[in-house]
Amino acid sequence: MMIYKNPFTPMFGNEPPILAGRGKMIDDVLNGLRNAPGDPNRVTLFTGPRGSGKTVLLARIASEAESIGWISASASASPRLLDELIEQIERRAANLLPKKSVGKLTGLQVYGTGFTREISPERELTWRTRVENHLDIFDETGTGLIFVIDEISAEHASLIELISTFQAFIMAKRNVALIMAGLPNKVMQLYQHDSVSFLRRAFRRNLGPVSMPDVRAAIKKTVELTGREIEARALSAASEKTEGFPFLIQLIGYHAFNRSNRKTITLADAKAGIRDAEEDMQNMILDATMFELSSKDREYLNAMLEDEGASRTADIAARMGVSASYAGQYKRRLAKLGVITETRRGEVDFVMPMMKRYMRKQQ
Ligand SMILES: Nc1ncnc2c1ncn2[C@@H]1O[C@H](COP(=O)(O)OP(=O)(O)OP(=O)(O)O)[C@@H](O)[C@H]1O
Ligand SMILES: [Mg+2]
Repeated sequence: MMIYKNPFTPMFGNEPPILAGRGKMIDDVLNGLRNAPGDPNRVTLFTGPRGSGKTVLLARIASEAESIGWISASASASPRLLDELIEQIERRAANLLPKKSVGKLTGLQVYGTGFTREISPERELTWRTRVENHLDIFDETGTGLIFVIDEISAEHASLIELISTFQAFIMAKRNVALIMAGLPNKVMQLYQHDSVSFLRRAFRRNLGPVSMPDVRAAIKKTVELTGREIEARALSAASEKTEGFPFLIQLIGYHAFNRSNRKTITLADAKAGIRDAEEDMQNMILDATMFELSSKDREYLNAMLEDEGASRTADIAARMGVSASYAGQYKRRLAKLGVITETRRGEVDFVMPMMKRYMRKQQ
C-alpha cells in the first residue's frame, strides 16, 4: 500500500511547503531591497498574534533576500543578539570577507607581566565599526545586508542598540535593511522607547487573516504535492474552519490528511480532522493565551460571549457594570495582546478562531 507522508507543518516556526497569502508583504520588502537605500520598505515591522505566521514570514523574506544576492543575518531578540548577528554575517559572507586574523599576535605588551597577549584586532572594535567595515567590503560588489529580527521586545538592550545603530546606517545611506516581527503588545512597547523613535516612521504591517481563496489554494496545493486529492466539499469545510488563521491551516490540514490513507480526502475526513484540530488548538494556543490574561481581562471577554458575531463595546461595559472608559482600558489591553480586534467603530471581536467556543465551554 502507498504511504503518503503528511506535508502539513503544524509546528511553530516551521515553514510550510505552500505559504498561504502574504505574497504582497514579501514582494514589498523585496522591491524595497531592489530599490535604492532610502526605500521605506527596507525598514518594516510585522506584527500579529501567536500563530499568525511571523516567524515563517521572516524566514521566507531572509531566503528570498539571499536569492537576490543579499547577505542575511537572522536572530531572535536576546542578550546575545549582536554577537549572533555578527557571527551570521561572517559565516554567510565568508567568500566576500578577508580571512579572519584570528589569534594573530599583535605584539601588545602587557607591562609588568612580561608576556605578550594574543588579541585579534577586530575584537577591540565596536559592533558598529565591525559592521561598517563589512559594509565597505560588501559595497565593492553591490551586496546588501539585511537584518531579520524575530520576537522583538523592548526588554532587550541589545535590540535597542541594534536599532539605534541601524538608524545611523540609514542616515549614511548604507545598503541595509531591517525587518522585524513581534507580538502587538511588544511592538507597542518598543514604539514607546525614546531612543528608537525613528521606528515609529517604519512601515508596520499587520498579519491579519489570510483570505479564503488563498487558504483554499494553499490547502489544495499542499495535499496535491503528495499525490493525494481533496474533495471540493472537504476543502470548503476545512478552509472555512481555519478562519484564515495560518496555524489552523496547518493543523486542520494535518489532521484531515491523517484521517485516512485513501487517495482522496473526503468530507468525513475533514470533519473528523477539524475536531482533532480543535483539541490541539486548545492546548497549544488558547491555554497559553488565557494564562497571560488578568481576571479583569477575562471578565471583559466573558461579557462578549453571548453575542453571536462581534460585540458592541457599549454592551460589554453595560454587562460588566462599569463605565465605558473603564471598559475601554481593558479593550485596549486585550487588543494590544492580540486577543480582540476592533471590527468597526464601537465593535470588537475575538482575533483567534475557536477562542469564543473555548471560553464558552470553560464558563
Ligand atoms: N502563510 C502561511 N500559510 C500557511 N501556514 C502558515 C503560514 N504562516 C505560518 N503558517 C503556519 O502557522 C504556524 C505558526 O507559524 P509561525 O511560527 O510563523 O507563527 P508566529 O506568528 O511566529 O507565532 P509566535 O508568535 O508564537 O512566534 C506554523 O505551523 C506554520 O507552518
Ligand atoms: Mg514566532
